[in-house]
This record gives sequence, C-alpha cells and structure tokens, in this order.
Amino acid sequence: MAKLFEPIQLKSIHLKNRIVVSPMCQYSAVDGYANNWHLVHLGSRAVGGAGLVISEATAVSPEGRISPEDLGIWEDGHIDKLREITSFIKENGAVAGIQLAHAGRKASTYAEWRGKGKVVEADGGWQPVGPSALAFADDYAVPTVLDQEGIEKVKADFGEAARRALLAGFEVLEIHAAHGYLLYEFLSPLSNQRTDAYGGSFDNRIRLLLEVLRAVQGQWPSHLPIFVRISATEWTDGGWDLEQTVALAKILKERGVDVIDASSGGNVADAKIPIGAGYQVPFASAVKKQVGITTGAVGLITSAAQAETILVNRDADLIFLARELLRNPYWPLHAAKELHVDLAWPNQYRRAK
Ligand SMILES: Cc1cc2nc3c(=O)[nH]c(=O)nc-3n(C[C@H](O)[C@H](O)[C@H](O)COP(=O)(O)O)c2cc1C
Repeated sequence: MAKLFEPIQLKSIHLKNRIVVSPMCQYSAVDGYANNWHLVHLGSRAVGGAGLVISEATAVSPEGRISPEDLGIWEDGHIDKLREITSFIKENGAVAGIQLAHAGRKASTYAEWRGKGKVVEADGGWQPVGPSALAFADDYAVPTVLDQEGIEKVKADFGEAARRALLAGFEVLEIHAAHGYLLYEFLSPLSNQRTDAYGGSFDNRIRLLLEVLRAVQGQWPSHLPIFVRISATEWTDGGWDLEQTVALAKILKERGVDVIDASSGGNVADAKIPIGAGYQVPFASAVKKQVGITTGAVGLITSAAQAETILVNRDADLIFLARELLRNPYWPLHAAKELHVDLAWPNQYRRAK
C-alpha cells in the first residue's frame, strides 16, 4: 500500500489519506461571506479525493483580512454558508478544516488581479495593525501598533472564530502563524521591535501565539486536532529561523498542538529564497525528527512519486498541495493510479476511471 493513501488518525479525526488541500485565498467573498465559488472550489477538491480540505485564510476580524474579498468568520452570519460547505465536503468523504488568520501589517492589500499594494479607503481599504510601526514594503501601510487592548481583542477574536468554526462543522482548525501575517510578525525579531511583554526575548515574541492558542482551545474541543502553520525560516540573517521553529514546536506540542505545517518566508519582502522542488520539506523533516510531532510538508510538491518519497523517508506525515490542486482537483485520484492503489472513484465518475 502506498503511504500516500494510508489513513492517519489525529485525535478523534480519521483522514482517509495523507493528501491535504493547502489553504488558498480565493479573494471571492463579500463582507467575509462564503458563496457558491467557495462551495464548488472546496467541494470539488473533496470530490477529487483529498483526505483533508482546508479553507483559505479566514479572517477572525474585518481588519484581519488580507484583502477586502477574503473569507471571514467574525460574525455569526458567516456560519450558515460555511456549514453548507463543510457538509458537502463530509458527504464526499473528506474532512473539512479551516485556517484562522489575521493579516496584521499585510492587511488591506489588493487581490493580485485587482491591483497592487495598499487598498485605498475609497476601494474598501482600512488601516492595518501590527506589532511595531514597520511597513512590510514600500507599497504597504505602516501599521498602527497594537496596544494591550488591541492584543486582547486579537485573542478574543481568535477564540470567537474557533467557536463559530465548530458550529460551522469544521473538524480541523489551523492557526495561521506563517507568511508574515500578524502572529508571525510577533514571532520575528525583524517585524517585532516591541519593548513590552510581547517583544524582545524569544519567550516574549511567542507569547501572542501561545495566548491565541489558549483562546482557541477555550472554544475548540480537545478531541479535535489543531494545526499551526509556521514559516520555519524567513531566509534572512537575524530573523526567525529553524532553530527557533524547533524550540517553538516543542512548546506547541506540550500545549496540545497536533500538527506543525511547515512553510517559510513571507515576512521579508526581498528575502532570497532558494525555491525548487520540495524546498521546504527539510523544515517539516527537522521539526518531525527533533520534536516528535506530526508534520505537514508543503511547497512545490507536484508528483505522486515525490509525495510518496517524502512519506517513505519519514520527512513528514501529511502532504499539503496548493497550486497542483488548482491545476487538477482530481490529482489524488490520478496519484492513486500512479502508485498502483485501487481507489474508489465517486460513483458518478466511475465510468471515467
Ligand atoms: C492562490 C493561492 C492562495 C494562497 N493562500 C494561502 C492562504 O490563505 N493561507 C496560507 O497559509 N497559504 C496560502 N497560500 C500558500 C499555499 O498554501 C502553499 O503553501 C504554497 O502555494 C506552496 O505550495 P504549492 O507549491 O503546492 O503551491 C496560497 C497559495 C496560492 C497559490
């Protein structure tokens, strides 16, 4: 049996295989509300055979959106359509996950096909917040520094979002602490230059993430898994690196996190990143080996053989795919054939198998 199609148990959740739809912003929501685009986009990837389908970065507050068109979960009205989506995902044999996010200083930017840089107010833009008054890049806003009250709101927003995610039928929750968004901005000494309890030492920089985790755990049942996506390195001297990632992952494991989803980059606009096939796999591997926690590998994983090799080598336990699943939502069905696994296709599609 190919490892890619071996099931895995995460707390009370059974994934039928190791293929995860990596969260991908669709920039297609209005006021944070999901619609039929999200239903069909996420639903077809469940039909396509992925074991776990994770929704895009879903904003815990309006100011936490990357763009005005991001999906949101900051009000109860958001729940109904999300529930329809999770029901469809489940009916089609996959588990529904959600990535909870706050974009921090990288909020209020245009979706790539709508424009570039900061969204002006007339176009629905707003003033972003962050750990320190440092812009991500020239065409980004200098964020308003979060004070203690603002930090308390972030924690409360994540907690409330977790409560709604549960009501919406999600069974896996991923905290987005990667790619230069708010929680990562606090982790990195490059974007966090605070002198209070949330800046300076490693313990201080990880504080907000740990407090957000606690707020989420206050609402999210202990039998359902929590993932944390982290940028394992920002590819910049003096920045967040793999050593700190391993140290953080140990603490996250002790505090009940089930999976580390190891990505990289996103906090330094001009970082030199050696992009190539599977270039982030060594991060998932290092965290798995040094921490003994379940990990997900992501980034330029495109073929069944490549995914299988990562699992056989025990570099990761889950394979997150993003762009390859945009190219082909039925990638898992074809990967099974390549790996000589006789996978059942959806009844409606059997004549095409
Ligand atoms: C259209 C698009 C949207 C994305 N949105 C998110 C997101 O919402 N949250 C996130 O953590 N990563 C996001 N990513 C990053 C992917 O999840 C993934 O980590 C990255 O694309 C590398 O994997 P790939 O080589 O398989 O595409 C996005 C990527 C793409 C292509």
